Parts: sequence; structure tokens; C-alpha cells
Amino acid sequence: MSSPLLRVRGLVKHFSVKGDLPLVTKTVHALDGIDFDLNPHESIGVVGESGSGKTTLARCIMSLYRPTAGDVHVHGRSVYRRRGKRALLKNVQMVFQDPGGSLNPRFSAERSLLEPLLHLARMPRRERPAAVRALFELVGIRPSDIRKLPHQFSGGQQQRIAIARAIAPQPEILILDEPTSALDLSLQAQVIALLMQLREELGLAYVLITHDLSVVRQLCDQLLVMYLGRPVELGPTADVLDGPNHPYSQALIGSVLIPDPTKRDLVPPLVGEIPSPTAPPSGCRFHPRCQHAMTICAQEAPEARRVEQVQTWCHLYSRSAQESRDVPK
Ligand SMILES: Nc1ncnc2c1ncn2[C@@H]1O[C@H](COP(=O)(O)OP(=O)(O)OP(=O)(O)O)[C@@H](O)[C@H]1O
Ligand SMILES: [Mg+2]
Repeated sequence: MSSPLLRVRGLVKHFSVKGDLPLVTKTVHALDGIDFDLNPHESIGVVGESGSGKTTLARCIMSLYRPTAGDVHVHGRSVYRRRGKRALLKNVQMVFQDPGGSLNPRFSAERSLLEPLLHLARMPRRERPAAVRALFELVGIRPSDIRKLPHQFSGGQQQRIAIARAIAPQPEILILDEPTSALDLSLQAQVIALLMQLREELGLAYVLITHDLSVVRQLCDQLLVMYLGRPVELGPTADVLDGPNHPYSQALIGSVLIPDPTKRDLVPPLVGEIPSPTAPPSGCRFHPRCQHAMTICAQEAPEARRVEQVQTWCHLYSRSAQESRDVPK
């Protein structure tokens, strides 16, 4: 069987940080075992509360971080190999949350695009001006504006330039880390429409990190719900959004998306704060906040269980927990 476009396996990323006392270090468990595959032209959404490890996942895929364990393959080749780095960077590009911060303030819009065309795509000089014009046209920036510096554009236009720069080397995968959260509502809608258009026209695959579940529904085939560095649910977007299995996904998704308010009220709200990733809870990391927690939940990390098309990491769905007379607390 041919390998998928992107394969993430057993990805773990721990950071060592200074503790409260001198000479004491703590370990931040930012990612602890993420697996998924992404096929060409498909998109996966990644959601979870702040601090759940979404950006760390994106940076590991981009090989900006080397993981503590696990691997990421693009077309079957590890992204952490030194050889073939340029080809990887050309093929996997990222758009950041803050377009102003991600564009070089001293580079004109045109120069921001010429750089990847030169260094990553190795495009001959005579072809570059036409390529820049075509890219700006594609993302909706006027040709008369291409000599301007980033601060002379609005936030929405800056994000269009950042997207144009990311697609300039013709990548197959675009990682989008909250690409619209720094923009106001009308600009968000425009950037989402642009992302939909680019996916159709260029056949891109997206890894889309967002807090906006309606964007996930519009753009993503699969959805990964993360909690404190671990996966809790992974499956087809509509299945997860319309009938989340995991109590965490139910709380995260249910309160926003279940159209019927009487059913929405049945979903217990998310209570309490996300615990510190330097001391993650034992067993299922969600158990201290879970209304259905059983004894086993504090003792063992749940294995993935398939519930129809959806993988769910929850003891409520594991046979051993159902067979034992384990009862909710
Ligand atoms: N370079 C780093 N050094 C130490 N800790 C880090 C580093 N990067 C991230 N972390 C920690 O790892 C955890 C996960 O962070 P991450 O930024 O991946 O979360 P996130 O899901 O992207 O959150 P948000 O929704 O706020 O962007 C957090 O507790 C964060 O403080
Ligand atoms: Mg983040």
C-alpha cells in the first residue's frame, strides 16, 4: 500500500523548563502520543483548549521542533532527516496566527514572495515576476500594491500575503495555525473563503488549527480533538461534530454546535481549568474534570477504541471497563 501524504506516528514532545527552585527542572508534557494520517487533497482540523499542544504539533510537523519520540513522514520520508530538507520545506508550508509578525517588516509584499520562489522553488529569474503577479491575483492583492511594506496593509491583506508566500513554492501541505483568529469577523470570512478556493484550485491538503468549529466543518474532512497533549477523539468531521463521543469533545463541541437548545443543555459544561502540563493527571488526563469519571480513569490511560468511524480515547467505550462493574464516581 502506498504511504499517505502525511503520517504522524507516536509523536511526543516534552520541554525542560526551570522549576520554582534553583537547579530544579520540570518537564512540560506538550505532546504525548499523537497519530494521524492525511491523504493528498484532504484536510484535518485540530481543536482543543489553549495549551493542549496544537502549535507544538504544527511545529513538530514543520520540523521546527525535533520530537522527544515518534516521527513524521511526508510521502514516506521522515521530516527529521537532514537530506532532502529543501524539498520538504517546499512541500510543507505554514501560515501563522499573526500575519504582521510572520512577515518581514522590511520586505515589500513582492519581495516576500520572491524569496520562496528563489530559494525553495528555484524558479528561473525571468519566470518570477509573472509568478508573483499570478500569486497576488490568486489571493486578491492588487498589482499596484505589491511594492508596499507589510505595515501598509490591513490585517486581512497581510494574511493574504502570508498565504501567497506559503503557496508560492507549490506545497502539497499547508499548516494553518489559527489563521483567522487575529482578524475581525468580516475579514475572517474572506480569508476562509480564500482558503476554500485555494483548496479547490490547487488541491492543497490542510492541517488547520482553530478554535472556530464552523470553520472546521467548512474546511476539514477529519477532526482531531486534543486535550493536554493527547488525542481524545479522531474521525470524520461531521461524525465528531454532530455526535461527539468523548465527554471532553461533548463539552467543547456541544455547547457551541448542537442546534437544539434542549439537547445542548444535556451536555455538562466544561468546568475548571486545564491542568498544568508539567504535572498532567494520571490515567486519562481529562478525568479530574470529567462528569463520567470512573476508578479506572485515574489509573490507566485509555487505548483508542473505534466507535463506528471515530476513534475515541475514553474508558466509557473500553470493553474492560464496561465488563468490570466499574461505576461512575
Ligand atoms: N518552547 C517551549 N518551551 C516550553 N514550553 C512550551 C514551549 N512551547 C510550548 N510550551 C508549552 O507546551 C504546552 C502546549 O503549548 P502549545 O502552544 O502547543 O498549545 P496550543 O494548543 O497551541 O495553545 P493555544 O491555543 O493557546 O495556542 C503549553 O503548556 C506551553 O506553555
Ligand atoms: Mg497555539
